[in-house]
Amino acid sequence: MAGVLRVHGPAPLRGRVRVPGDKSISHRALLLAALADGTSAIRGLSAGDDVVHTLAAIEALGATVDRQADTVAVTGGDLRAPDRPIDVGNSGTGLRLLMGVTAGIGGAVGFDGDESIRRRPMDRVAVPLRLMGAVVEGTGDTCRAPLRVTGGHLHGIDYALPVASAQVKGAVLLAGLAAQGETVVRETLVTRAHTEEMLAAFGADVTVSDGRVGVRPGRLTATDVVVPGDPSQAAFWLVAASVVAGSDVTVEGIYLGPARNGFLDVLLRMGADLDIDPVSGDVRARHAPLTGTDVTPDEIPGLVDEVPALAVAAAVADGPTRFLGAGELRVKESDRIATVVSELSGLGARVEPLADGLVVAGGARLRPGRATSHGDHRIAMAAAVAAMAADGVTEIDGWGVVATSYPGFEQDLESLRA
Ligand code: S3P
Repeated sequence: MAGVLRVHGPAPLRGRVRVPGDKSISHRALLLAALADGTSAIRGLSAGDDVVHTLAAIEALGATVDRQADTVAVTGGDLRAPDRPIDVGNSGTGLRLLMGVTAGIGGAVGFDGDESIRRRPMDRVAVPLRLMGAVVEGTGDTCRAPLRVTGGHLHGIDYALPVASAQVKGAVLLAGLAAQGETVVRETLVTRAHTEEMLAAFGADVTVSDGRVGVRPGRLTATDVVVPGDPSQAAFWLVAASVVAGSDVTVEGIYLGPARNGFLDVLLRMGADLDIDPVSGDVRARHAPLTGTDVTPDEIPGLVDEVPALAVAAAVADGPTRFLGAGELRVKESDRIATVVSELSGLGARVEPLADGLVVAGGARLRPGRATSHGDHRIAMAAAVAAMAADGVTEIDGWGVVATSYPGFEQDLESLRA
């Protein structure tokens, strides 16, 4: 992935910023609108490449998309298998949720993506979809892309998630819309609730109770969606403001719903100076001295994407921070246990890998250097945050991948430093 970002540090960040629309909600808004009868207006959709790929996918599946200034109007209904494979780019969420949707329509749908997507395990979705009656053929022993889903004639299952994954929960529930009988997903660790929340908004017959989500088959009805700001992107600015002296940043209008904001709890525990407005979703962070903490396995699903950013906060905190029970990081856009260690160590942090986690020693004086994204947007942005706190110029290679989730990051950085 091409492109280099040069960051001159340190310089305080000050002002207000609006991050892109939440990526998880954006994918689901498009997919549910594509399945629904009628036209849904979606406002504030993420402009990142991941969501652009999902938008193209629903068009290929037969939804009609009308792009207006800040709204995308999607007319859904009866989807059908396209002639050509769907390209999901870098998006694991897009692929896994689309596998669930296409298991529910007749015909065979091929999927492929970039180098990173071809390394990611899809058996976690293939296994339950096969139990429901779909045929899923993938590459290698973990059913990787390129892969093919042949759907139709599904029946409901009662499925206990073997990994805490909102993507798997979402894929099974979306397939459940087209299955006979009730489809139930059970989770012991709570994961983000967007699929069940949004299924209800589109009129699906969903029931949610302690660790159990059930869905019954039925048509969806179009509904308008306003996508809030993405807390996972906000995390980079809130950590940056916390670690760079003289900073005072407010991120506007982020999603503050369940199982997404564990990183705010962790930052508060570390001593971060945050003001959280639960009504507007605005979160303000001012520079503050931080102390290390333990992030426990039950907290991980609620902050899994924020670990690279939190690791930067941990690097400069007083005392160690441990991220425990975070083995899922190994199968993200990169092996984030390995890439957090290599990239943050290169910028002066003291980070050690665990088989399923990280130990960050704390007390580091971050220094400028050269980092690389490893084709992972969150690693690139975490390195940028570390660079903001370092004294000198840091170059981040492979910066182009940041466009998958946050195409305007550089402009927002400039405006916060102006
Ligand atoms: C997501 C769930 C998480 C997260 C990903 C988005 C979602 O993955 O890492 O960025 O939208 O459901 P897992 O569910 O696989 O943990």
